[in-house]
Amino acid sequence: MDHTEGGEEVLIERYNANERSIHWVTAISFVMLALSGLALFHPALFWLSALFGGGQWMRILHPFIGLVMFSAFSCLALRYWHHKLIDWDDIKWLLHIVDILNNRETGVPEVSRYNAGQKMLFWTLLPCMMLLLASGIVIWRRYFSAYFPIDVLRLAALAHALAAFVLITAILVHIYAGIWIRGTLGAMLHGTVTPGWAHKHHPRWFRSVAKERAAAKPSTD
Ligand code: HEM
Repeated sequence: MDHTEGGEEVLIERYNANERSIHWVTAISFVMLALSGLALFHPALFWLSALFGGGQWMRILHPFIGLVMFSAFSCLALRYWHHKLIDWDDIKWLLHIVDILNNRETGVPEVSRYNAGQKMLFWTLLPCMMLLLASGIVIWRRYFSAYFPIDVLRLAALAHALAAFVLITAILVHIYAGIWIRGTLGAMLHGTVTPGWAHKHHPRWFRSVAKERAAAKPSTD
């Protein structure tokens, strides 16, 4: 398959500008929430509140930034959920994970747009986001807490901390994978990947893109 034009390698679009903007709104709000959330969680980390203009401002801003992250993530979830459905090939891929990490890929099912690890990550993020929103509303003192009994508030505070812990851990894995697999970060920075990256990490997706390209090329007959 030819992926050059005039001797130049033709890059493949993975994310358009809208997708990238929404992703980075989610990511920036996540970082702000993690920092302010940790400051609210433990007195030893309260010094982080200085980043938000002090404790008062941090307490006001944290829930509103939470709404921004939830809304931005919902757009991502609506856009990608159908790419994230887990099938039998994903289970087989997971069973070969040790081979994959050791670069032995014969007999491993070919990956489409996302691998099973990315899919599992997505299905971890989704319930965390929902739980954070629901529990966050219950413990939002300014507007809602007064409507709930104290036991519900306690339970919601616990659920909020647990969901945040799982989310932060999952996102650290997501960031590590994005940086560790060379060429992946570029997909979210400028939107494109090389044909080599697509062929190596997502061969089934690569072939469908190549087919679309071939169909779109004007015939030379
Ligand atoms: C903070 C630093 C972050 C970095 C460096 C980062 C990096 C990336 C990269 C490189 C991709 C492309 C992966 C690919 O196409 O194979 C991606 C996709 C994605 N990211 Fe992030 N991300 C970050 C934060 C977040 C956060 C906070 C969320 C949500 C809570 C998130 C959700 C997603 C989703 C849903 C996708 C689309 C598909 C996929 O699952 O790979 N990211 N990210």
